Amino acid sequence: MNTKEISPEYLSEWLEVPLAIASKSLEDTPRASMNFIIPDSSDQLRILKECHRKLEFMMTKPSSDLKRKNWESQWQRVSERVAAEGVSEESLRPAYFNRKMLRLRGTYVHGLDASFAYSLHLTILRVLFLHHLQGATSYTELGSGTGINLLILSKLFPGAAFLATDWSKNSLQLIDAIGAARDVNLEGRSLDLRTMEGGETVQVPPDGVILTIHALEQIGVRYESVLSFLLAQPARVVFHLEPLVELYDATANFDILASAYHRHLGYLEGYLPTLQKLEKKGIIEIMECKRLGFGDVWHEAYGLVIWRRS
Ligand SMILES: C[S@@+](CC[C@H](N)C(=O)[O-])C[C@H]1O[C@@H](n2cnc3c(N)ncnc32)[C@H](O)[C@@H]1O
Repeated sequence: MNTKEISPEYLSEWLEVPLAIASKSLEDTPRASMNFIIPDSSDQLRILKECHRKLEFMMTKPSSDLKRKNWESQWQRVSERVAAEGVSEESLRPAYFNRKMLRLRGTYVHGLDASFAYSLHLTILRVLFLHHLQGATSYTELGSGTGINLLILSKLFPGAAFLATDWSKNSLQLIDAIGAARDVNLEGRSLDLRTMEGGETVQVPPDGVILTIHALEQIGVRYESVLSFLLAQPARVVFHLEPLVELYDATANFDILASAYHRHLGYLEGYLPTLQKLEKKGIIEIMECKRLGFGDVWHEAYGLVIWRRS
């Protein structure tokens, strides 16, 4: 067993950002929630085999992860919690950040505290937002879920305007709840990422940022409409933090399992190679493309891609 801590130094080295940004991103996070264990090599193998066994069983049934009614019921539960407890980072937490066994930088790790995965997720967001997205006048999120990402952005950049979009009615209700609870310029719009129905109501200014976080994953291979929309916007940058199957190592068992899981769920595929082709043609510039190497035990949803129109 090998206990480690997500310290400012660890974050700065891992995410390749200045120490000041890493420290600021951890400021409000209790240190105790940021400890994790790296199981030894025999346990690593045991966890891998266990995942393989469970995945084989999972694959005998179709996945319901991408269904709209699944999201309505998930966000209904969050709405009820927000009505009872008020708006906070904790009340807006999606239920899927509940696992202690995770993937971090090529190994399985075990968070010591139940809040490790969510605390680390929010810390990563703060680091990336501060490092890559400072100074825009507006932030538009596609597939904004509970609104947690826009809440974090609005705390970091309070003077900006924020636009949330999602196909779930309960998601848009949560956005209204955040707007009512906080002094923030935040609006919500209904938008379907597969068809881009509703996209005509979204106009991003030249100094605006568009972001997707764990949302394009949901549209599988149906990214053509959203990509056309993104290419038509004069935005400063487009920021994605998504599971990108193309970033896995096809020769490593650790990654072969994750890509099998990704494909079983029908997650995003082909989008990154399409962006790379657009870059070769000189249509866009990819400013950042990397795998951060974090995820739950099944897969990694932290492929970072930042691009802009050339
Ligand atoms: C995994 S959640 C991520 C939510 C949020 N971006 C976050 O990081 O917390 C995926 C979100 O995508 C939304 N979504 C899924 N398919 C969609 C579609 N076709 N159009 C619009 N939103 C969609 C879901 O309603 C859900 O809010």
